[in-house]
Amino acid sequence: MGQCMANSALRIRLGRPADARAVSVLVRRLTRRWILPEQTHEAGVALLSRQGAAAQRMRMAEGHRFHLAWLGDVLVGVATMRDDGHLTQLFVGTRYQGRGIARRLWRRAMADAVRRAGTRRFTLNASRCALQAYRRLGFVATGPERLSPSGVLTTPMELKRARARSQKA
Ligand SMILES: CC(C)(COP(=O)(O)OP(=O)(O)OC[C@H]1O[C@@H](n2cnc3c(N)ncnc32)[C@H](O)[C@@H]1OP(=O)(O)O)[C@@H](O)C(=O)NCCC(=O)NCCS
Repeated sequence: MGQCMANSALRIRLGRPADARAVSVLVRRLTRRWILPEQTHEAGVALLSRQGAAAQRMRMAEGHRFHLAWLGDVLVGVATMRDDGHLTQLFVGTRYQGRGIARRLWRRAMADAVRRAGTRRFTLNASRCALQAYRRLGFVATGPERLSPSGVLTTPMELKRARARSQKA
């Protein structure tokens, strides 16, 4: 009940350049805690360098869609979609995890991409610690865990949207 009440105050809106620093702080903190332990030192350094405020701002300028979840003035989660089909970031602050915030962010990001581009297939590269959560969101692995060109260990996943009944007829 307490969690429901807390989440009902959750606000999700699109990110703008002024949010880049807050996004970077949240994403880097969560990466250090949850993702770096399963990566090599070099891959971790490369990953963190791609998560700085300037890099986040550049992605916004390139058209990546940032969906930001706020509780009051606290940024508690972020989902970033590239090309209306590839989820590049999904992070929820540690103390806010397990309350359905990632699911709400994902729903919002997916609906936005579907509205903009009619996307039927979504992809992402999952860190080991997020695999189960992505499975629960409906993603399936499309290959084994492997090193990306930048040396980051992830599993490629996809989600294919079911065709709406009315479109079948
Ligand atoms: C992965 C992450 C985004 C999930 O956020 P969250 O807000 O806790 O997720 P939700 O509460 O919305 O849960 C969504 C679903 O995943 C499941 N889930 C979440 N974390 C899980 C875990 N560690 N193990 C198993 N299932 C999990 C939930 O049970 C829920 O499924 P259900 O609704 O069918 O019960 C969050 O844990 C996180 O930021 N992790 C660290 C960073 C990270 O690895 N990000 C991904 C980069 S690829």
